[in-house]
Amino acid sequence: MTQLGPLAWPPAPIRTERLVLREPEPRDRAAFIELLASPEVHTYLGGSRPRDELEREVPEIPGRRPGVFVIDLDGAMIGTVTLDRHDPERPGNRRPEAGETELGYLFLPEVWGRGYGAEACAAALDWFAGALPGEPVVLYTQTANERSMRLAAKLGFAEVERFEAYGAEQWLGVWSSVTPSG
Ligand SMILES: CC(C)(COP(=O)(O)OP(=O)(O)OC[C@H]1O[C@@H](n2cnc3c(N)ncnc32)[C@H](O)[C@@H]1OP(=O)(O)O)[C@@H](O)C(=O)NCCC(=O)NCCS
Repeated sequence: MTQLGPLAWPPAPIRTERLVLREPEPRDRAAFIELLASPEVHTYLGGSRPRDELEREVPEIPGRRPGVFVIDLDGAMIGTVTLDRHDPERPGNRRPEAGETELGYLFLPEVWGRGYGAEACAAALDWFAGALPGEPVVLYTQTANERSMRLAAKLGFAEVERFEAYGAEQWLGVWSSVTPSG
């Protein structure tokens, strides 16, 4: 058993037209620190962490746990896509039912606007749907995060609700590989 329930982790690397989704490796450490230290990446995520703190604390292989895909473009990490079991204790959690999986995505600002987020997330959702058919995936994002809202719509997430948390309007969407009939 893993944090992703019965799924075996890691899967074999997933290849898309331009990207590879794979497990984190030691060579990704600098890009992880870039991602976590970037104020732009964390504009709607509660703020970035100081670089010197990250240099001290990020492990040799960051993010090595079930559900964390490094997104690799031509051999270099450009972001992460995560599929995590939902934390029922998390503040702002609207659907504390056990067993829900949440999608997250973080890409380095220099690669935004080229469709890599959509390409990587679609591949991760496709893998998830193949492994656990019909199992829903939830997504939380601030409504002010326009790029994230556009990506959620493109991926096929349907709005469940909007609510206030952390001093901002939040959006909860749900995605399922099984289209409801009727
Ligand atoms: C959210 C985030 C991943 C979106 O990144 P993005 O690059 O805007 O998203 P996409 O991959 O869908 O790319 C879409 C853009 O690429 C453009 N594009 C260019 N070439 C493309 C191609 N070959 N295929 C598809 N789209 C392409 C699209 O036209 C679109 O442009 P637009 O934003 O001007 O409309 C990114 O902004 C990010 O990492 N933000 C910080 C982290 C965050 O807030 N995460 C949300 C919390 S879960």
